[in-house]
Amino acid sequence: MMGRRLLIAGNWKMNLDLYESYQLAKAVAEGVESFKNIDVLISPAFISLGVVGQKFKDSNLLIAAQNCHYEDSGAYTGEISLDMIRSTGVDWVIIGHSERRAIFGETDEIVAKKVKHALSNGFHVIGCVGESLEQRENGEQEKVVKTQVEAFLQNLSENELKNLVIAYEPVWAIGTGKVASPEQAEEMHKQIRNIVNGNAGEEAGESILILYGGSVSLTNAEELLGQQDIDGALIGGASLKQESFNGIAAIAEDISKE
Ligand code: 13P
Repeated sequence: MMGRRLLIAGNWKMNLDLYESYQLAKAVAEGVESFKNIDVLISPAFISLGVVGQKFKDSNLLIAAQNCHYEDSGAYTGEISLDMIRSTGVDWVIIGHSERRAIFGETDEIVAKKVKHALSNGFHVIGCVGESLEQRENGEQEKVVKTQVEAFLQNLSENELKNLVIAYEPVWAIGTGKVASPEQAEEMHKQIRNIVNGNAGEEAGESILILYGGSVSLTNAEELLGQQDIDGALIGGASLKQESFNGIAAIAEDISKE
């Protein structure tokens, strides 16, 4: 953490209908209302973004879309533009999640294009990186993550970089209950910070938030969030229940008060 403000982010993925999303957003907003030392973000599906974005825009919840397109508008059936997202009151977007990469064919090039497009349009971006199990077993994790991070960083101005958050999510830890050890996560986070240092200068490296994602739960959150270079969490499964998500946020709030 080291002077950086922790961010606890929930990625709801393709879960919860409109009504359920509203109910959970309400429960989360009420639960974290009194938290002063951390930021809390939820990311509902597009279909719920309008209602959740509008209803909670004056709460202290941050709200993100789970994806966006890299063009402003046009013949892209089924896609969602930044202006559409912004019209719901939302100015955060998650880009390059490993599920987008693995299932929907988003390459480093596409991800970098989206990151640049969103940042240059004044959005805050959570850019995701992470190696697969096979890549880790082959000892390629550092190389893979370096390539992914460097793809984001190309062509970003100093101001754009200020709105970038990086999420390290090892694919083998997502939805598997197999969490990276605090040491494994910290090692990769340090590497990512060094890459940002090297590419954009020490100030950018020291201030950028790097979140960990992959089976974060009430049981492991404290140890992970206690690592020097872990500045928050991007949470899937445990973000779908207010008890676990607000509980993790409460742990982060306590750590930040210390
Ligand atoms: P889980 O917390 O379910 O492992 O998902 C992590 C994730 O992919 C968040 O983006």
